[in-house]
Amino acid sequence: MVHKPFNFEAKSYKVSMFSWNVFLHVFMGIIVAIPIAYAFSFVKNNQGWAIYFHILLLVPGFQLLMGQSFLGLCPYNAWSTDLNTVEKRRAHWILASLSAILLIVGNYYVMDAKTVNFNTMHGKFGLVALVFSIVNMVTGVAALYPTQLKKFCIPPSLSKISHIIFGVVGFLTAGVSLCYSYDKNAFKNWIGADAALGCIIITALFTAFLCFNPMYTSYKRTVTAFK
Ligand code: HEM
Repeated sequence: MVHKPFNFEAKSYKVSMFSWNVFLHVFMGIIVAIPIAYAFSFVKNNQGWAIYFHILLLVPGFQLLMGQSFLGLCPYNAWSTDLNTVEKRRAHWILASLSAILLIVGNYYVMDAKTVNFNTMHGKFGLVALVFSIVNMVTGVAALYPTQLKKFCIPPSLSKISHIIFGVVGFLTAGVSLCYSYDKNAFKNWIGADAALGCIIITALFTAFLCFNPMYTSYKRTVTAFK
């Protein structure tokens, strides 16, 4: 039996990357749990059902499912390490499709309940996030069929890069919209101004960290496409 030499550098790199992944999941848990706990306060007081469903659908839709659809493609993500590329892609589009359903229904609920629409920064960024996420689904379908696209003289890298860019912009604007929701007086009265600021900081960091891998992938793909 041949023993492979102990590669400390490779091991410590792996341990760091997996720990980073755990850290991101903890962040995700905090970001999803706090708005859900806030939404439950609506049930307790028997008020604001539209906002209740809005939060209950949108936060798990964007920050949980869309977030997991990003993480699932990362090399050191807990639940997807044993999946091959085809399986990772399948998990990605299933999560992204579920997320899109929650986003559309969650936005519809609150838009329908309001008389004047998109008059707040929260609503404006939320609308941009929704539009980019819907377009992202179309570019995602295109990215799944690169060979068919070639027949129409559309380079596969174009659909893949545009898919990543639409996805990242959708996720970033959803993060900004979420930060504005934490700035609402009703939320600050519930959790306290300092804790609301903490929520904004955690959301901003989490959103930026999650976008890092897709941005790096699109950079690599762009460089390869130009070569
Ligand atoms: C990523 C998550 C979220 C997104 C993308 C989002 C998006 C939106 C959108 C598009 C609207 C409709 C605006 C309009 O028709 O004028 C809206 C309204 C609203 N959302 Fe959210 N939302 C999110 C999370 C939250 C959370 C966590 C809260 C509460 C803490 C919240 C509270 C509200 C309230 C109170 C309204 C009605 C007032 C307004 O338009 O600002 N939302 N949201």
